[in-house]
Amino acid sequence: MDHFDYVDGTMRVEQVPMAEIADAVGTPVYVYSTATLERHVGVFREGLAALDNPLIAFAVKANPNAAVLATLAKLGLGADVVSGGELLRAVAAGIPADRIVFSGVGKTADEMRLALEHGIFQFNLESEPEAEMLSKVALSMGMRAPVAYRINPDVDAGTHAKISTGKSENKFGIPYDRAIESYAAAGDLPGLDVQGVAVHIGSQLTDLAPLEAAFTKVGALITALREAGHDIRTADLGGGLGVPYDPSQPLPPSPADYGAMVCRVTQGWPVRLMFEPGRVIVGNAGALLSRVVRVKQGAKAPFVIVDAAMNDLLRPSLYDAWHDIRAVAPSGKQAAANVVGPVCETGDTFAMGRDMDVVEAGDLVAFMTAGAYGATMAGTYNSRPLTPEVLVSGDRWAVVRARPPIEALIEGDSIPDWLAD
Ligand code: LLP
Repeated sequence: MDHFDYVDGTMRVEQVPMAEIADAVGTPVYVYSTATLERHVGVFREGLAALDNPLIAFAVKANPNAAVLATLAKLGLGADVVSGGELLRAVAAGIPADRIVFSGVGKTADEMRLALEHGIFQFNLESEPEAEMLSKVALSMGMRAPVAYRINPDVDAGTHAKISTGKSENKFGIPYDRAIESYAAAGDLPGLDVQGVAVHIGSQLTDLAPLEAAFTKVGALITALREAGHDIRTADLGGGLGVPYDPSQPLPPSPADYGAMVCRVTQGWPVRLMFEPGRVIVGNAGALLSRVVRVKQGAKAPFVIVDAAMNDLLRPSLYDAWHDIRAVAPSGKQAAANVVGPVCETGDTFAMGRDMDVVEAGDLVAFMTAGAYGATMAGTYNSRPLTPEVLVSGDRWAVVRARPPIEALIEGDSIPDWLAD
């Protein structure tokens, strides 16, 4: 469910015509809907209503825009961060440190120090050498770091290989079979306070069975660890719940289905549950608005060349991801088209042979479900400035990240003195 609807034949986001934003800010531009963010937080929370005080830590990587984070902070969400940069963004947006969890395989000593200074809720450790480093850093600051180990349950998430994280060959977590030994070693490290277990098996999951299999393993491990004398008080079940991208595909499980499964599997666990949803919170709350530059004849279908490209929305190029492409003011006619960007790579293709609204040069199109892993994965390839972002709330809207001038790209480089004469 989102708040991008057609009124009098033209797409609006909440009460604001998309065309008004395109005319004022230019295209391409990401457009986010506050009402959709609020709705998704509400639905996710409702799914978990039977749990006692769960910590919902938004996966900042999905959308780190300050205005989006501030919206989620106001709704009481915490943050799952994977870098010092994400930590500082979360704190700056008003997310309290005691709702922040730090994940990732490559935390540096500097990042650990920063997170300890802020007093975050939990570090999710991914290896024994990382545990040793964190213990040293914490001790040097006269502190003990609250930690969980992320376990790798060796479960196939059944999603795209590039976003699967829970198989034994993936780089994430500690092997499930060695967990008891790893926890014993962590328990002996004086700078650590071992408090939890964490798991995250992948993203855009459209089946609950792999999640249930992973959570069941976490439950068994909690029992074994408590028997071994560890005071396990938290279980972080990660993120991963998929969202609908292609209306012709079956709907993924809803947050209510997910919550019911979680409640069933975790019943009686003597821990506080934590979650790290990203996509399910922001995915449908964003669209990438773009203008058709020209339409060119193709061998089988016309090429619709838009002013957005793979540098603005990388997902189709990187994961063959499907985004619904809609005309902002549809004529009512539909036909097959290839939708491509201006970047000089064949991979700069959003859709091939897609049945969609017929559009012409100058028309606006919206790439739907682009609120997660959209703007944050944008780059400047082909010297295209980063995509601006707009947040809408009711009949109000604001630019929440401006389009940088091309001069900023040029001036960002410098010429060494031996070349400047
Ligand atoms: N927690 C951890 C430790 C993660 O690595 C991730 C995502 C999440 C939570 C949030 O997962 P979500 O609820 O959003 O599925 N760029 C890819 C997705 C990469 C996901 C990386 N990790 C894409 O565009 O599909």
